[in-house]
Amino acid sequence: MKSVAVGLVLLLGACGGSKSTTSGSTGKVSAIEAMGITPPESPWEEMSVADREFYMIGKVNPIMQELFAAHDAEEFADFDCVDCHGEEMREINFEMPAPSMYIVPPEGTPGHRGMMSTFPEMVKFMEETVTPSMGKLLGVNDFTCAGCHPSEAPKKKKTATAKRKPSKTKR
Ligand code: HEC
Ligand code: HEC
Repeated sequence: MKSVAVGLVLLLGACGGSKSTTSGSTGKVSAIEAMGITPPESPWEEMSVADREFYMIGKVNPIMQELFAAHDAEEFADFDCVDCHGEEMREINFEMPAPSMYIVPPEGTPGHRGMMSTFPEMVKFMEETVTPSMGKLLGVNDFTCAGCHPSEAPKKKKTATAKRKPSKTKR
């Protein structure tokens, strides 16, 4: 088990490119090195919501902060819960995927091809680093983009935006 974790850290370090995830630049201890990108002690499925929140705060968030900062330190300088859960996270009890997240269109659709050409770097980072790391941190094998991103626009609109009239044409 241990060697798998170590191998993964090395692999992620390599993918991250220029910046290392070690303590060097900030003087802080690396969460990735301290805890490892490893599953929770008890299965995620069996954890209470309170334990899940604690796990997010203590492990998922600090590790993800490092991964996102290694990808783009400026863009993700204050990466936090809201980047995955959305501004309304407390109102929706941290339900995932957060409805306000960028919608990842289903594979094979023109929308998906559009995403690939608009965000090539980001998609690569999402595929190679974010998705597998989240899967490891939850101990879930088949974790996909849909664990964090909606795959279609929400059907029920409860918010004020539903009442917005199409008076202004945007294109
Ligand atoms: C990198 C993305 C990411 C970040 C950052 C993140 N979370 Fe999460 N969180 C998730 C995902 C994905 C799930 C759902 C996992 C599942 O059940 O499939 C989740 C689930 C949860 C849950 C459990 C909800 C439930 O009802 O099961 C809580 C509570 C939570 N997160 C709180 C937080 C808090 C608080 C923070 C900040 C300290 C945070 N999360 C940061 C991705 C993230
Ligand atoms: C663990 C949660 C998680 C998973 C899994 C995930 N993403 Fe993301 N994704 C994020 C976060 C967080 C951001 C940054 C949001 C922000 O800018 O605050 C993001 C941003 C993006 C963006 C940029 C959107 C924009 O408007 O800038 C694209 C494109 C994207 N993800 C595609 C994908 C694809 C494709 C997959 C599956 C291969 C995927 N993501 C898996 C959390 C996730």
